[in-house]
Amino acid sequence: MSQEKVSPAWLAETNTEHRVEALLAEMSIAEKIGQMAQMPHEHHSNDWLKEQVRQGRAGSVLNIVYTARVNELQRIAVEESRLGIPLIIGRDVIHGYQTMMPIPLGQAATWNPDLVERGARVSAIEAASDGINWTFAPMLDICRDPRWGRIAESLGEDPYLASVLGKAMVKGFQGKNLSDSDSIAACAKHFAAYGYSEAGRDYAYVNISENELRNVVLPPFKACADAGVATFMTAFSDINGVPATANDFLLREILREEWKYDGFVVSDWDSVSQLITHGFAENERAAAKYSLAAGLDMEMSSKAYLNELENLLVDGESELKWIDDAVRRILRVKFELGLFDRPYTNVKAFPVKGNKNHLQAAYECAVASCVLLKNDYQTLPIRPEKQKKIAVIGPLADDGYEQMGTWTFDGKEEWCITPLRALRDALGENAEISYVKALPSSRSNDKSAFAEAIAAARIADTVIMFMGEEAILSGEAHSRADIDLPGAQNELLEEISKLGKSTVLVILAGRPLTLGKTQHLVNAVLYAWHPGTMGGPAIIDLLLGKRSPVGKLPVSFPSVVGQIPIYYNHRMSGKPATYDSFTFIDDIVPRAPQTSVGNTSFHLDAGFEPLYPFGYGLTYTHFSYSHLELSSSEMSAEGEIEVKCILTNEGQREGTEIVQLYIRDRFGSVTRPVRELKKFQHVQLSAGQSTPLVFRLKAEDLAFYNRQNKWSIEPGDFDVWIGGDSKANLHQSFRILAN
Ligand code: NOJ
Repeated sequence: MSQEKVSPAWLAETNTEHRVEALLAEMSIAEKIGQMAQMPHEHHSNDWLKEQVRQGRAGSVLNIVYTARVNELQRIAVEESRLGIPLIIGRDVIHGYQTMMPIPLGQAATWNPDLVERGARVSAIEAASDGINWTFAPMLDICRDPRWGRIAESLGEDPYLASVLGKAMVKGFQGKNLSDSDSIAACAKHFAAYGYSEAGRDYAYVNISENELRNVVLPPFKACADAGVATFMTAFSDINGVPATANDFLLREILREEWKYDGFVVSDWDSVSQLITHGFAENERAAAKYSLAAGLDMEMSSKAYLNELENLLVDGESELKWIDDAVRRILRVKFELGLFDRPYTNVKAFPVKGNKNHLQAAYECAVASCVLLKNDYQTLPIRPEKQKKIAVIGPLADDGYEQMGTWTFDGKEEWCITPLRALRDALGENAEISYVKALPSSRSNDKSAFAEAIAAARIADTVIMFMGEEAILSGEAHSRADIDLPGAQNELLEEISKLGKSTVLVILAGRPLTLGKTQHLVNAVLYAWHPGTMGGPAIIDLLLGKRSPVGKLPVSFPSVVGQIPIYYNHRMSGKPATYDSFTFIDDIVPRAPQTSVGNTSFHLDAGFEPLYPFGYGLTYTHFSYSHLELSSSEMSAEGEIEVKCILTNEGQREGTEIVQLYIRDRFGSVTRPVRELKKFQHVQLSAGQSTPLVFRLKAEDLAFYNRQNKWSIEPGDFDVWIGGDSKANLHQSFRILAN
């Protein structure tokens, strides 16, 4: 039954805050609590859901798609519920809607905020055209553990890079104005420290000091809050014994009081009711009580708020003020999105999905996301005029679905151009391309097609292997303990390598794989992540040299799994290893000296370095760095200096370098990382060209949370490096003076 309509007092208002207050004043307790509930479309019958909306028992619905269905539900909310409050429709548009960009970790490898923003813009336009108002992205979880399947959704291990790219995504999703019809609200998730799940097991507990939380995990969230991200989502995790969804320290103290954030916070799926499973709340009532007290505004999927908040109020165990504040924040976002003024979606007002511009954005992002890890003897680019016979081998050469990666609810498999197709399109009659899948899937141990693959490779001039992981091996709840190439892929590589052919390995994967045992078997390695709809043309244009690789690693690559966590911005320790300070233990091992003299911090069987460091990536030319100079070797705590150097393209081709600036704060009230990325810029140079570069480094760029967990600039000595990765050795030092 439709409700008796009231005349909406907010209509007389123009200012958002006044509109919010006018509407709030008309709402019953039940209607307020209704706004705090988000219901999944897929778990309920349509009729039941419609009735909830009609009764004002849902503020949001997630996972309903396609304009007609969304508009019908919106019509019920707007025309049949008593107050006519529109729904906010949510969906995981993580790295594309129907046109898929590379997975977020691949996007992070571009180090290019413009491309990342453009990708999010395309995703927002496509999603908005189907009635979606809100995406649950960007995922800002700093991740140092590639076993964790959700590293695929992350922007890597570095707080600065993740901040820059996270902000770009927010800008892309939210557009110029949140109220534009093609803008969607973004969501900074998962607040916080979900990426620190113990041993990379998804949903596991997290132990982290407040200092590390503030200095490493929170910066991307703060950056996105400052950039106006409309919403936050809590993490599933139990952090130091207090699950994020009921964590008042995170939600009240940090987010609201310190950061003055005024968007709303949604839980993760069932994470309110999971407070019971965690052993934190004894029942649904306690789960609702603790979450509201902590500052959680909207509950996703479970119904503790709907079932219990009113009882808690009546019994004096919750405060109406908290409910009012939550509803204010939700209504504010709905007003800002323009939902009250324009609740319905007109698909015809949007460009068609998957159009040329959208595919072009996906292509450019995919090109820039690939990282060239190895290129011995200039194996790449392939010269088809000389290498006419090309054998394409591997389970991921021709599988559109798998190249999209995790979170591809709506991604169009049929739009994907695979590497095999792109190679055939590019070379046509000018090459003899043979293709053997060799393994039914990346996980397979079925070697029955190995002989055919070996035969194809034997007569080829060049072999291109497409290996890695299918989409299902990364993403939520898809963690792995062994992150080598799965199945019999290593064995296949070994067999092919015995032929002594020029062999290129292209890896499609949702995480860094451990390539320590593999990479020496091939001449070149291109890491393509899950590159999305246009992954095929992007990879092939790079392999053929139509484009040059630019990407740099957003995360360190371990050599073996036992090194994890291994990341560039670790602290020093009291006995750091150096290149000459350790010996590998082999079968002529001497007896261990019973003293700690001369001992340092490393693994006997893996040393102390990753296989590839953060920031690393080759291209088809090479660059040199020289003349690192500072405008001054001192600055005040309010000051800044210029850091300059000369970059030269030493090779025969044009190329683009991502120039990186790292610092070290030598002594601190808490020990500081051995290196921290502070700036980067993309520089394109033609063959032989040199250019001066300037970075402006402000003392405030060097601030951090000190021993008292206060944001501060500590005077003292600093190192600065500029180079092409986190191992850069061109170095100077400077000092921040005490005031
Ligand atoms: C659970 C995931 O953790 C979260 O990232 C996602 O947005 C929600 N489910 C909604 O699908």
